[in-house]
Amino acid sequence: MGERSDRERRKHEHIAAVNALADQGASGFEDVTLLPESASEIDVDGISLTTELLGCEINSPVLVNAMTGGTDESRRINGLLAEFAARHGLAMAVGSQTAALKDPSVVDTYTIVREKNPSGVIIANVGMGADVKAAQTAVDLIDADMLQVHWNTAQELFMAEGDRHFRGMLDGLKQVANSIHVPTIAKEVGQGMTGPAALRFVECGVHAVDIGGAGGTSFIAIESWRRGMDIERDWQTWGIPTASSLGEVCDSVGSLAEIVASGGIRNGHDVAKALAMGATAVGIAGSIMRLATQEEPERRLDSWLENVHWTLKTIMVLTGARTVNELRERPVMISGPTRNWLDARGHEEYRLVLARRGIER
Ligand SMILES: Cc1cc2nc3c(=O)[nH]c(=O)nc-3n(C[C@H](O)[C@H](O)[C@H](O)COP(=O)(O)O)c2cc1C
Repeated sequence: MGERSDRERRKHEHIAAVNALADQGASGFEDVTLLPESASEIDVDGISLTTELLGCEINSPVLVNAMTGGTDESRRINGLLAEFAARHGLAMAVGSQTAALKDPSVVDTYTIVREKNPSGVIIANVGMGADVKAAQTAVDLIDADMLQVHWNTAQELFMAEGDRHFRGMLDGLKQVANSIHVPTIAKEVGQGMTGPAALRFVECGVHAVDIGGAGGTSFIAIESWRRGMDIERDWQTWGIPTASSLGEVCDSVGSLAEIVASGGIRNGHDVAKALAMGATAVGIAGSIMRLATQEEPERRLDSWLENVHWTLKTIMVLTGARTVNELRERPVMISGPTRNWLDARGHEEYRLVLARRGIER
């Protein structure tokens, strides 16, 4: 019972913290410019946002990223988010299922997602220490189409009750990725993945990586807030800004795995830029949680998504892209600190390929 009430408090505080705190740092997308195509001849109703993630068709590249489960409050939020995902044909991940694996009395706080969205694309979520049995159980519980394994070392270290042992985690991931019956996504949670780290995950057999860059929700800030501590200035800017991480990871593993861009993605411009840089889909968490916990959440979520999609479609008309795949081929200029980052890290060629798309030679 003590464990359950500790968990209830922790999950509640995570949600309260997201509402109390602003996004941390900058995602870096201000350095990324999509080039308008003046000669575009595309009709608005000729645009399609339908795309695929790991072989599953989705109506939009926007994915409701992992957030919650394990408490009464999370059951309500998961139900609400599952209905939102079902209304719009979005993929949705549940929050960490560790609670359900330990305590059968909270299983329904996750299964509600499948109940509310019987034929949608649903993603299971376990922590980096999960073994094959736990991972398969998490998938089976919600009849998931794919599995996220989250890599939240920074959060664990800032959590008073967090884990301090990380040895052997990659071996565990390898076993999970090679044994379970659905594709696996290795997921960073807010400090951004480097290209070499993404490659190590891919070498373990995962089919996709979620880069979880800096510039949005920060679990360093959330865990510090929970402990009543001010976050030190240097921790506020800790991590790889999402745009830099995305560039590194696309160049390093883009031909080997699918890439979910996430971390501070907040509007249709960010979504379009991430796709044009090479992402398959775009995960959003913090903005969605803030809307889901206000009055009239359904209306707020629907009008927020409508706005994101309006911007994305408008950008597609203006850049001459009918489909998400065509947007992935449109020219992109990367300047400022993100350019410096990518060039210094050996990704100048990738940056130039993006810039020179569409130039006849
Ligand atoms: C309230 C809250 C709870 C979260 N819980 C989980 C979780 O259980 N598992 C996980 O992989 N990520 C979790 N995340 C991280 C998000 O999936 C995402 O990676 C991160 O918030 C960055 O995206 P954002 O900047 O759009 O919020 C959580 C995020 C929020 C806001």
